Amino acid sequence: MKVLIFGSGGREHALAWAVARSPRVTEVVCAPGNGGIAQIARCVPADLKDVEALVRVAEAERPGLIIVGPELPLSLGIVDALQERGLRVFGPTRAAAMLESSKGFAKRFLQRHKIPTANYAVCTTAAELEKAVELFHPPIVVKADGLAAGKGVVICQSRRTAIEAGHGLFTGALLGDAGQQVVVEEFLEGDEISFLCLTDGKSVVPLVPAQDHKRIGEGDTGPNTGGMGVYSTDAMLDPHMTEWIMHHIAEPTVRGMAEEDTPFSGVLYCGLMMTARGPQVLEFNARFGDPETQAILLRLESDLVDALEACIDGTLGEISLRWSPGASACVVASSAGYPGSYKTGLPITGLSDAARVPGVQVFHSGTSKLGNQILTGGGRVLGVTAAAPSLEEALMRAYEAIALIEFEGVYYRRDIGHRALKRKP
Ligand SMILES: Nc1ncnc2c1ncn2[C@@H]1O[C@H](COP(=O)(O)OP(=O)(O)O)[C@@H](O)[C@H]1O
Ligand SMILES: [Mg+2]
Repeated sequence: MKVLIFGSGGREHALAWAVARSPRVTEVVCAPGNGGIAQIARCVPADLKDVEALVRVAEAERPGLIIVGPELPLSLGIVDALQERGLRVFGPTRAAAMLESSKGFAKRFLQRHKIPTANYAVCTTAAELEKAVELFHPPIVVKADGLAAGKGVVICQSRRTAIEAGHGLFTGALLGDAGQQVVVEEFLEGDEISFLCLTDGKSVVPLVPAQDHKRIGEGDTGPNTGGMGVYSTDAMLDPHMTEWIMHHIAEPTVRGMAEEDTPFSGVLYCGLMMTARGPQVLEFNARFGDPETQAILLRLESDLVDALEACIDGTLGEISLRWSPGASACVVASSAGYPGSYKTGLPITGLSDAARVPGVQVFHSGTSKLGNQILTGGGRVLGVTAAAPSLEEALMRAYEAIALIEFEGVYYRRDIGHRALKRKP
């Protein structure tokens, strides 16, 4: 079978790597891909913002399975367009992807279905915003409604700054694009967990949990990024808590979407805050996370293609996933200056030495290939990922491998997973 993957990041490299391991797969094509993906798949150019262009790639390739990596094409209706042409695609329709593409939609949905989430108000005018802010105690969370690539959430220490942030989102001063809706939300305290599930619209199968590190600096300081590292262990969620999240969050979400005639199939990514009152939904994503996918797929022993096809065919109820016990960790190497401006086109060395460290896979996030030389091509450049029987060993392997990699100004956090290590009895 030929598999086509849309996307160009570390998530897509991990997907391509997992798909290529399936004995059923004869060819992997990635549009547009990156320098690392090009080593295991055929890359074809594509603009992820252009649904018609992506459809043309799919029609030319006629793959047996299409996987959509990023949120933007999902929110633009790529799945609907491919389904209309009779192509087999893994991912939610545009209407179902609204769980991610509109935070206002998601909050109202959660409330309708009594799924635990922070108290909130959805505001459409500045006057509504000012009134809503009066009802909350600082810190107050102010969120853009639409996709904002991790830049749409402001945590405000006073009502005045919350109103300013809301105005900034309405006028476009904060994000560039003017927002139609702004969500004002209660501040929640606790540990964050990424709880990803596969679903065919009826059955829900959880993946192993993961914890992301969003801030650029060690000790969770400095500005937000796309994610500087992630780890996954069995100990993060005990079976009882996993069952609770399935019964009170993941399954009612999938059931609710089906009841409302917008069945959701694909990856339901529940971003959870583990509060004193129990798990609460911070947000949904409608796709695999990046870099969570790198750490999660390194632990997957089952055939990913079988599982994704079951989501398309409505047969996920017959599937159970096998995972390697223990842990995995992914440490992201980024360009100097990220998440601000940074240089690209810098040569990277040490990649094959790093890949020889036992248990390690080096997934490329932002690279290009010039002849045989891999060059930096983004803010996040590489996700050095390792699996091992324990988190300590997985981290040791990932850090041993990343230390072998060099490019001008390479930066990575030295404290990925440290909070979990400290918490251990
Ligand atoms: N209600 C909240 N209370 C505390 N922190 C929050 C809350 N909502 C969001 N955050 C923080 O902001 C981050 C980004 O918010 P999220 O809703 O996940 O939006 P996005 O991923 O689209 O930027 C979260 O990972 C979390 O750290
Ligand atoms: Mg998030």
